[in-house]
Amino acid sequence: MKSIFGISLLFVFFGSCYYDKEENLYFASQFDCDTANVRYSVQVSTIINQNCMPCHNAATASGGVSLETYDQLKTMVLNGRVGAAIRHDAGVSPMPKLSPKLSECKIKTIAIWERAGCPNN
Ligand code: HEC
Repeated sequence: MKSIFGISLLFVFFGSCYYDKEENLYFASQFDCDTANVRYSVQVSTIINQNCMPCHNAATASGGVSLETYDQLKTMVLNGRVGAAIRHDAGVSPMPKLSPKLSECKIKTIAIWERAGCPNN
């Protein structure tokens, strides 16, 4: 009986630890969400590097898609495929593949950059 209590206490302890971490991540991503001043060199390249680069650098180019350079990314954003993939639109392969959907903030950031014509800023 004692050990069952101990084990459930352990779950409560680790459970709350995990929750704290998630909460910090949530606040961190909200804090980083600056949609008033979207720039390629700041938010856009960071989102792509962190979420897409393992599969879409020039060497791996999964699905024949490289997003490594500004020009490559710009082409794929302006033809609508990046936006469709990260919004999980019907008819496109949802991205990032095998990972959770990007946060609303990140999807919005890419959309703002797309609407501005993908400036190299
Ligand atoms: C784990 C590997 C992986 C990650 C991470 C990944 N992709 Fe992909 N991506 C692929 C593969 C593989 C394909 C080819 C289609 C398929 O097999 O689903 C693809 C295809 C695509 C396509 C073409 C889709 C179409 O139907 O036209 C786009 C655009 C794309 N990825 C964008 C992204 C973006 C943007 C990210 C980051 C937010 C990302 N991908 C993250 C593996 C990945």
